[in-house]
Amino acid sequence: MASNKIRIVLVGGSGYAGFEAVRWLGRHPNAELVGVFGSSKNLVPLDELYPLLTKQVSMRQELFEIESVKKLSPELVILCVPHKVAMSYVPLLREAGIRCIDLSADYRIASAEIYEKWYCPHTDTEHLKEAVYGLPEFFSSEIRSANLVANPGCYPTCSVLPLAPVLKAGLIEPTGIVINAISGVSGAGRTPSQKFHFPDRNENFEPYGVGNHRHMPEIEQTLTTILGGAVEVLFQPHLSPMDRGMLCSIYARPAAGATAQKIMEALHAEYDSKPFVRVRDDVLPATKYVSYTNYCDVTATLAKGTVVLFSALDNLLKGASGQAIQNMNIMFGFEETTGLY
Ligand SMILES: NC(=O)c1ccc[n+]([C@@H]2O[C@H](COP(=O)([O-])OP(=O)(O)OC[C@H]3O[C@@H](n4cnc5c(N)ncnc54)[C@H](OP(=O)(O)O)[C@@H]3O)[C@@H](O)[C@H]2O)c1
Repeated sequence: MASNKIRIVLVGGSGYAGFEAVRWLGRHPNAELVGVFGSSKNLVPLDELYPLLTKQVSMRQELFEIESVKKLSPELVILCVPHKVAMSYVPLLREAGIRCIDLSADYRIASAEIYEKWYCPHTDTEHLKEAVYGLPEFFSSEIRSANLVANPGCYPTCSVLPLAPVLKAGLIEPTGIVINAISGVSGAGRTPSQKFHFPDRNENFEPYGVGNHRHMPEIEQTLTTILGGAVEVLFQPHLSPMDRGMLCSIYARPAAGATAQKIMEALHAEYDSKPFVRVRDDVLPATKYVSYTNYCDVTATLAKGTVVLFSALDNLLKGASGQAIQNMNIMFGFEETTGLY
């Protein structure tokens, strides 16, 4: 019997984001994972790499070759590969007429010049023009008809979701915003290195990327687009010895007339009808309350004349693969929440 599920190919199944995408797609009622591709390194059954997948997904990862992907007739390819690799594969996939969701940074920054300043020269400016930024809470109508969705970074998602409604409501100044962000170690991917070796990482909490983290231009671009006017932030990330999870504490100058109540009302007005952002009146956001889910929890208050906003999400789900599946649902006309919680 013909399946009425959409056919999905995943690239980068051996990585952390790819693993979560495989796991969640395996339970999605409207999607069928028909192939998983990677580099030459891990061409083995996925449950050999991730024993948790045993009796769930035993598909073998194949070497990425465009002809092998085309033979599977996918309607969508989800790319969970590093930047640079993504923009070498997307042109091949788009020329074959296949819709793509890319989790890397390659199509997130609209300007090739700004991308080059923070990453490397852009080699696919043609498809950069058609890319839609995949933050469903703000761009769902563009995502619906997109052929190429640039899935946002985990830090940008965690930073933009609390700030955007409060900026839109004119309750904070758009400059002088400080974002203090904390990430679990899986944010850096699965490739081992000294910095992420257990004795170096365990019980060790440290700042990094002072004034020069690559997610800063993405956060500013997104907030500027949503507000329709320039937004400037200082983004300061920290690495925490958690395996997953992300928390932001954000400080901003109140605009005239701002009160804690108005700020909370702005968050509720934006998100009460949106499934994956929970405005917390009861508890402050914390990584454990969103772990292994696609939720981002947000809240805000005024303290000592400063607006303080908090947000938390799971970097591998709302920060990566969960958000990609949310985007897939929108692109293919499924309920936004299908296969997710
Ligand atoms: N980790 C997060 O929290 C997070 C959040 C948001 C976005 N992202 C983005 O999502 C992407 C994946 O991140 P990750 O954390 O999952 O990284 P990762 O654990 O390092 O995984 C990277 C994956 O890409 C594959 N790969 C590398 N080069 C390839 C090539 N030339 N051809 C085919 N496959 C190739 C790797 O395969 P082999 O190792 O088998 O070669 C691996 O499966 C990145 O662009 C990252 O920036 C990650």
